[in-house]
Amino acid sequence: MARLIVAGAAGRMGRMLTSLIVQQPSHILVGAVEAKGVKAVGADAGEIAGVGALGVRIGDDYAAVAAPDTVTLDFTNAAASMEHLEIAAAKGAAIVIGSTGFTPEMESRARALAPKTRTLIAPNMSIGINVLIKLVAEAATLLNGFDAEVLEIHHRTKVDAPSGTALALARAIAAARGQDLQKSAVFGREGITGVRPPDQIGVMALRGGDAVGDHTVIFAGLGERMELIHRTQSREALASGALRAAAWLVDKPNGLYSIRDVLGL
Ligand SMILES: NC(=O)c1ccc[n+]([C@@H]2O[C@H](COP(=O)([O-])OP(=O)(O)OC[C@H]3O[C@@H](n4cnc5c(N)ncnc54)[C@H](O)[C@@H]3O)[C@@H](O)[C@H]2O)c1
Repeated sequence: MARLIVAGAAGRMGRMLTSLIVQQPSHILVGAVEAKGVKAVGADAGEIAGVGALGVRIGDDYAAVAAPDTVTLDFTNAAASMEHLEIAAAKGAAIVIGSTGFTPEMESRARALAPKTRTLIAPNMSIGINVLIKLVAEAATLLNGFDAEVLEIHHRTKVDAPSGTALALARAIAAARGQDLQKSAVFGREGITGVRPPDQIGVMALRGGDAVGDHTVIFAGLGERMELIHRTQSREALASGALRAAAWLVDKPNGLYSIRDVLGL
């Protein structure tokens, strides 16, 4: 039985997670948190998720609910997840972080904190994307010499760009080719850009409508082009992946894990 806390309980992912947790007898929702001042604080997490009252009030104090026998599902934002990770590490509470938009400084702080408890950080919880990352690494090696470009589209309300998944795909290409992504990546192009350097990795972010999240990796050669595409059709795929990760993390030793550990990829 996984005793779960949803952080960001009134958000898109938070509501989807709550609605899935109630369908699974092996999971129990024991806490829900939101940002201070948000209207949903004080409301029932089930009512906010549209699945009826569950008797779990949304609070605004994560430290009051985090405990060693709980697993937190954190889909808030990078700054809030960093605060939650500090608390989870201090309390020995397991935490699955899905938030994206971490700065390099946040990433290095997260790497230092994560081993103090059971921590899993995954910018994309879907099995399809994680298989794509593996395939892209292989393609980047096999198609050495082909120009690599990563393209993503997300809904108009996403606040960070490019997506954490696009960065993970670009990182996989760079690693497979022995390149430093910091030096190879270009995020958008404009004006007289000059000829494309062969080791450049383009990462382009589109925003619009309610697109849940599509990623395309293009390997462009002379006279041929290969495109690997993943489309997320519903947040359910992401939320189910997060729940699977939480169940997997419960009895693991302290450490920093990725979704690939869960999926055995
Ligand atoms: N890893 C994945 O598979 C995956 C999938 C979807 C979204 N995401 C990421 O998850 C995050 C949330 O996405 P979303 O679409 O649900 O966003 P959202 O804006 O709908 O929800 C985020 C929620 O977090 C709440 N929040 C902010 N600060 C908080 C705090 N200190 N404590 C508690 N709650 C707080 C907000 O009030 C909001 O309700 C984003 O970073 C997004 O990029 C990751």
